[in-house]
Parts: sequence; structure tokens; C-alpha cells
Amino acid sequence: MRKPPQNPHDLSRHDLDDILGTINDEARQRFGEGKVADYIPSLADVPADRFGMALALPDGTVHACGDARERFSIQSVSKVFTLTLALEAIGDDLWKRVDREPSGDPFNSLVQLEYEKGIPRNPFMNAGALVTADVVLSSFDDAEATLLDFMRARSGNPEVGSDDVVARSERKSGYRNVAMANFIRSYDNLHNDVQQVLDFYYLQCALRMDCVDLARSVQYLADAGRCASSGVQVTSAEGATRINSVMMTAGTYDAAGDFAYYVGLPAKSGVGGGIVAVVPHVMGLCVWSPALDEKGNSLLGRYALHRLTRMTGLSVF
Ligand code: DON
Repeated sequence: MRKPPQNPHDLSRHDLDDILGTINDEARQRFGEGKVADYIPSLADVPADRFGMALALPDGTVHACGDARERFSIQSVSKVFTLTLALEAIGDDLWKRVDREPSGDPFNSLVQLEYEKGIPRNPFMNAGALVTADVVLSSFDDAEATLLDFMRARSGNPEVGSDDVVARSERKSGYRNVAMANFIRSYDNLHNDVQQVLDFYYLQCALRMDCVDLARSVQYLADAGRCASSGVQVTSAEGATRINSVMMTAGTYDAAGDFAYYVGLPAKSGVGGGIVAVVPHVMGLCVWSPALDEKGNSLLGRYALHRLTRMTGLSVF
């Protein structure tokens, strides 16, 4: 007789600490694969042999393993939070200035911008994140303080801050971002001073947080927009669904198809080696390991998310 199907969303079926322990052991055996990002000079010094993972549940419970309390540069993971701020500020008008289609191109690609008239494909490629940063700058009196307050409230960690050394390093080496911002400006799709937009963008990318902070920070996307750390309704249930869908289709750039296939969760990566992911209605999570694959996503992060979804059955598919 066939067994009745089991509900993977019933977390009492899983020993999450045991599962994380297994994934941690497996990941550490693969240290040495992948390559730490070095195009931002201050990121090149981060040791590759680090692995941490944290899961944050809507009741505030956190499960973590490995180097989950070591802080790292969150880089493009920040784009989830500026997207949330921009959507809350101007709603669907955002989509007149940035599209929500996968790009199939690398995160720092400029190629589509000209024939798509300065409208970036999605808010997660660098070009789209610059437009989103511009919207945040226009929407709040003190955008930097707004973003820092947002991250501290979401993570429940009042010490979250941005690393000036990393931000300065990006400012010195960000030739592509400078080109991109000026190009978008030529289509009138940036409204603030180009350098001001770039500086805000570098500040958001240089935020330093650990896996526990980030799992808690993204947890509102797993609970219909409600943040467990602060009790605040950050966005509507519909808003959370929409952000998750853009993460699914564009959060890992030209590897979004591979992530859907191999992991099956909305996810957003950063070149610091962090990846946040969401199991809708179940948990927010973050994994960090600095060595990247050729698409710029954490190699062991991708592996760990694959193992988690396969060991628990928790994927959207
Ligand atoms: O602008 C950049 O290139 C970096 N600050 C962020 C890139 C990034 O994290 C892309 N993610 N995989």
C-alpha cells in the first residue's frame, strides 16, 4: 500500500540541528573549491575556508552551524532590502524604471541597457540596483540612516553597520558601476547626482552582517511580510510574494535557472559569499562561504542549499 504523502512544512518531522551539522561537515570537506572574489580589492583577503548557515523561523527560533556568527560583506544580498524599501516607497511605479525579467547575463553586464533604453532588466543586477538605490535616495530624507535602521530592526542586531574600508575599495575600483550609472543617467533613469547614487550603493553593499543576522533579516519574506525580530509588518503578504518571485527568477543572475533546478528556493547571492533564501511560509535562511563559482555565487552556499532542500523536502517545487 502507498504511504500517504508527508508534509515537509511540518518542521517537527526534521531535526534541523542534526541536518545543519551534516551539511556543515560535508561542506568543510569541499574547502578549496571555488575562488574568493578579488575584483573588489578588500574582499580578496577574506579566507576561503569558512562555512556558516542559519535558519530563522517565524516564531523567532534560530538554528545555526559553523561560522554562522562571523560577519562578512553582504554585497548584493543588500539588494533584497533596498528593493523592499523602494517598493514600499513608490509601489508599482518602480516597475516603470526597472523591469522584473531574468537577464541571462552576468550581474555587472551593461549589454542590455542600450537597446532597452536605460531600463535595467531587474533590480538585482547592478544596473537595476543603482536605479533602486536612486529611488530610495529620492524617497527618504536620510536614506543611509533609513537603510541602517531597517537592517538593525530586521536582524534584531543594533550593531549592524557598513564597512568604510570595503565601500572605499569599491569606490576606487568600481569602473563598471561608474560607467553603468552614467549610462543610465543619460536615459534620465537616475534622478539624483550620479556619485551620490554610487556612494549609497557602495554603502549598502559594504554592510557587514553574519548568517544569523541575515537569516533573521530575510525572515519577513517567509511570513507574509511580518518580521519576527521587530514584530513589524514590513510589507504586505502580496509584497513578500512578489519579492520572492523576483529572487526566484533573478536573484542569482545568469544562474537563476540552475538555482531553480538545483535548489528550488527564492534566493539572493552576493560576491562576499553570502546567499539568503526563503522557504515561503516556513523560514528565512542564510548560508555563507566566500569561495565563488564562475557565475559569482558561493559554491558551497549553492551546495548547502541543495542539500537542505533535498534532506527536508522543503523547496517550492
Ligand atoms: O557592485 C558590485 O559589483 C558589488 N558591490 C556587488 C556585486 C555582487 O555582490 C553580485 N553578486 N553576486
